[in-house]
Amino acid sequence: MRRFTYGVIMAAVLATALAACAQRPPAPQVEKFSDGELPVPEKYKSWPKFLSDVQRPDAKQVREIYINPIGNSTKMGDNFPNGTITVMEIYKAREAADGTPLKGADGKLVKGELQKIGVMGKGPGWGESVTPPELKNGDWVYSMYMADGKTKAPDDYATCRACHLPLTDKDYIFRYDEYFQKRAD
Ligand code: HEC
Repeated sequence: MRRFTYGVIMAAVLATALAACAQRPPAPQVEKFSDGELPVPEKYKSWPKFLSDVQRPDAKQVREIYINPIGNSTKMGDNFPNGTITVMEIYKAREAADGTPLKGADGKLVKGELQKIGVMGKGPGWGESVTPPELKNGDWVYSMYMADGKTKAPDDYATCRACHLPLTDKDYIFRYDEYFQKRAD
């Protein structure tokens, strides 16, 4: 009888210990960012390309967009998960002396100097600080830097939010369909 009790107690202790081991470690504290605070990630150039050589003749620009691996694991039709960051390099399109845009052999705009670097990232509760709240883009926050990736650009973040805002069914990402289409190819 005594031996049996001891066995039962030991089994219970072991089960409790195992359950504790199986429990996930506490989630790491995610830093909260507001507009203008999210830095340009150091290694973004090694990230998957979201879209390359995006042609913006209207703005006389060529853009290169990167997405971090967490974002790149998203399935078409889903929203991007917390932890997603996209980086967009904005290049000036090269112009001829008379101001007309130069075109490469492929008929595309020719990338000139890097002008700015934009960042979009989302995390839990990051959208809470947005004012006015009508401009909330889910939990996305925005940053824009000059070409050095450190000097803050003078952009007003309300303009970023207002322009991306209507894309609620694409998780506020303009070229959502194009990106997933490219990935499927
Ligand atoms: C007038 C509309 C408009 C405004 C204002 C605007 N964006 Fe965008 N943004 C776009 C479009 C359109 C794209 C898709 C790429 C393209 O076609 O140039 C884009 C793409 C992006 C991307 C790449 C990820 C994605 O969503 O596709 C980032 C990062 C980004 N914008 C950041 C910003 C930031 C930061 C600001 C404000 C400083 C801003 N945008 C303001 C229209 C806008």
